[in-house]
Amino acid sequence: SSEKNLRPQTLEQYIGQEKAKENLKVYIEAAKQRGDTLDHVLFYGPPGLGKTTLAGIIANEMGVNIKITSGPAIEKPGEMAAILNNLQEGDVLFVDEIHRLNRQVEEVLYPAMEDYAIDIVIGKGASARSIRLDLPKFTLVGATTRAGLLTAPLRDRFGVVHHLEFYTEKELQTIIMRSADVLNVEIDPQGAAELAKRSRGTPRLANRLLKRVRDFAQVRYDGKITGEVASFALDLLEVDSCGLDQTDRRILYTMTEKFMGRPVGLDTLAAAIGEDAGTIEEVYEPFLIKNGFIMRTPRGRVVTDLTYQHLGIEKEETK
Ligand code: ADE
Repeated sequence: SSEKNLRPQTLEQYIGQEKAKENLKVYIEAAKQRGDTLDHVLFYGPPGLGKTTLAGIIANEMGVNIKITSGPAIEKPGEMAAILNNLQEGDVLFVDEIHRLNRQVEEVLYPAMEDYAIDIVIGKGASARSIRLDLPKFTLVGATTRAGLLTAPLRDRFGVVHHLEFYTEKELQTIIMRSADVLNVEIDPQGAAELAKRSRGTPRLANRLLKRVRDFAQVRYDGKITGEVASFALDLLEVDSCGLDQTDRRILYTMTEKFMGRPVGLDTLAAAIGEDAGTIEEVYEPFLIKNGFIMRTPRGRVVTDLTYQHLGIEKEETK
């Protein structure tokens, strides 16, 4: 798919996340020199910042296969055991949303990560016995939105842990220029800058918006994405000048108008806008906090002066 083509295949092609990239480069080179597998790696941070992409790059750079699964997809310990047992020496096992593994499945991972073995229980009751089965050596790459969602025993078994950050506008502009090149779309630096400004610091969103803006450029203009074309299309898509979408704005309007700027708890806010609390906390809020629209206080979430300014709402002075 084109989604796949837009993904960089090597660390060299990968733009941004400089800290994670520099460190991984060293760990990969060191492991390769020793003829060893890479230590288990945990990536955490908001969605769309490149966790899956980096897992693919790790496998590619190590010259091994990648097997991709997710926390909710594995329901039974036996399924996890089968996945692990089918890996080849050195393979990468990528587990997305790893915090959503159930307890029993997670427990299969402990000896697998530490000793490359699984313990299989045979029989029931008094005659139950445990047999240890050796596994190929492998690298577990786990992804989660927040490291705090993992249990301590799981988190402690990752040798490498990286927080993925929102991308700068400059980085996103470079990614968009590269993606446009891959997609054979004509774009100028102003067009890429406008898209970058409105992509919430997130490459996945930047690439999605690029495709939509391309459609407008093709049908309504001469095909080339300029600053004006991007601005026109993004306005129609209801992505505002700061990259906020309808849900972001609904959160902010609810906090300023319904709750009149007073501190509000996550669950109360979630109920008021009809969104899942976890989705607000992990998908929407990080960007709103990072950019100064929302602050977390001990009494709840509050909006800032910037929010009033951005929404064009007068702040009622409470006395
Ligand atoms: N496409 C999506 N994310 C990317 C990144 N970080 N670097 C280059 N291309 C990308």
